[in-house]
Amino acid sequence: MFHLGIDLGTSSMKFVLVDENLHIKMTFSKSYPCYYPKQGYSEQNPNDWIKACYEGLEYVAEFLGDKSRKLVSIGIAGQMHGLVTLDENDKIIRPAILWNDSRSEREVEYLNKEIDKILMETGNIAFVGFTAPKILWMYNNEKDLFNRIEKIMLPKDYLLYVLSNIFASDYSDASGTLLLDVKNKNWSKYMLEKCHIRREQLPRLYESYEKVGKLREDLIDKYDFNENCFLVAGASDNASAAIGTGIVGEGGCMLSLGTSGTLLASGGYTKIEAPYGIHSFAHGDSGYHLLSCILSGASCVGWWNKIVGKNDLIIKDENMGRNSLYFLPYLMGERSPHNDPNIRGAFIGLEMKTTREDMNLAILEGVSFALKDSFEIIRKTKNISSISICGGGAKNKSWQKILASVLNVDLNIMENDEGAGLGGAILASIPCSNVSLEEKVKSSIKIKEIIKPNKDLVILYKNRYEVFKQLYPSLKNIKLN
Ligand code: XUL
Repeated sequence: MFHLGIDLGTSSMKFVLVDENLHIKMTFSKSYPCYYPKQGYSEQNPNDWIKACYEGLEYVAEFLGDKSRKLVSIGIAGQMHGLVTLDENDKIIRPAILWNDSRSEREVEYLNKEIDKILMETGNIAFVGFTAPKILWMYNNEKDLFNRIEKIMLPKDYLLYVLSNIFASDYSDASGTLLLDVKNKNWSKYMLEKCHIRREQLPRLYESYEKVGKLREDLIDKYDFNENCFLVAGASDNASAAIGTGIVGEGGCMLSLGTSGTLLASGGYTKIEAPYGIHSFAHGDSGYHLLSCILSGASCVGWWNKIVGKNDLIIKDENMGRNSLYFLPYLMGERSPHNDPNIRGAFIGLEMKTTREDMNLAILEGVSFALKDSFEIIRKTKNISSISICGGGAKNKSWQKILASVLNVDLNIMENDEGAGLGGAILASIPCSNVSLEEKVKSSIKIKEIIKPNKDLVILYKNRYEVFKQLYPSLKNIKLN
C-alpha cells in the first residue's frame, strides 16, 4: 500500500511517496514561476499548479509501474493564506494573490481598527499576508471581479477541488484566512460580514487527516491508481511540515527554512499577547500551534546567489560570530514579529575590507536573528527544549551551527527532511491505519543528529543580537520612496 504527499510550495510542487511503514519510496519536484507585477504584489497562476500536479502524478504512476493500483491515498499540504477565486462556471477569476503579497495595507488598517473584536472573533489580528484583507482588497479595487466570486479557496484547496470536485479545507489552513474562529473551529459570521462574503462561498471544514472523498474517476483510470484512491483534507504547509518532522502534541517546535522562515510550537490553544506578531492557529493533529513567519527565509540565499552567481555558502567556523557586517532580511517587508509591509532589507556595516564570505555569513546570521525575534516571544509562553528543522535551508551545515547558537537551543536534524510533503503523506495514511496520528508520527519520524549550541558562539551571538535588535527600529521610519 502507498500514500502520496503533495506539497504545493511557493517555488515548486514536491511529491513524496511512502509505503505503509512511512518509508519514503520516491520524491519528485516541479517548479513554477511567481509573478511580481507591481511593487508589493506577489501572484501565481493556479493553472501552473495543476500542470505541475499532473506531471507529478504521471511520474508517480510511472515509478510505481504495475504496482500503481496500490496507491490508495493522497494528502496535500499548501502555501498558506493565498486567495484563489472561482466564478459560477468554476473559472479562475484572477491570478492567485499569495501569502507574501502586501497590497492590502489599507484593508489591514481598516480591520485592525477593531483589533479587540477581531482578536475575539478569530484569535489573531490582520496582516497583509492573510486572506481576509485580500478579499477586501478585491472588494475595494476590483468590484466587477469581486461580484463574480462564487467560491473562495486556499491554494491547496483549489488543487483538492480540481482533483476530486470536492470543496473542502482543513482547520490549520483555514486559520490563516482570518475568517475562522480558530479556538472553536467555525467560520466567523462577523468576519464574513466584514468581508462582504457568504458562508456558501467558503469550503466545508475537516480535520487534516479526515477523508474528504475520492480522486476523480478519470484520473484514477488515467494513472491506474487504486479504484478507491481517496484524498484527506490535508494541511497548511507549516502544519504539515511539523507533522513530517515529528512535531505533534504538546511541547514540540519546528523550524521550516523554505521561501519563508517559520517557527511552529505545537500544543493546546494559546492566546497571543500584544503586539500580536505571532499567530495562534489550529494544528493538523486536531490541536493547536503558535506560528511565526519571516517572509524571506532561505529565499534570501536564493536572491543573493542570483546576484553574485555561483557561491559557496560554507562558512569557516572561526569566522562565525565575528562578523562586523549585519544583514536585515526584509526583502518582502516583514510579518513576524514586526508586521511591517514597508520595511526593506539592508546590509549594514559595509567596509573596504568586506568580502563575499562576510556577506554570505551576514545573510545566514541575519535570517537567524530575524527568527530569534519571534523565537524569544514564543519561548515566553511555550517550554521549548529543542527545535526540529526542515526545508531547503536546513541542509546547510554552517547555517545549522549558526542557528543552534543564535537561538541557543538544540537543533534536531531529521533522518528525512522532506517536511511538508512527508507530512501530507502521513496525513493520507491515517484513515488506513489503526493508530492515532500522534502515535504514528512518534514511532516513525526519527532524528538523525542533534546540533548543540556552542558556548562561546552563544555569547558572541548574544552580543551581536543586541546590535541587530536596534537596527529595525532605527530604519523603520526612513521612507525610501
Ligand atoms: C505562514 C506563511 C508561509 C507560507 C508559505 O504564515 O505565510 O510560511 O505558508 O510557505
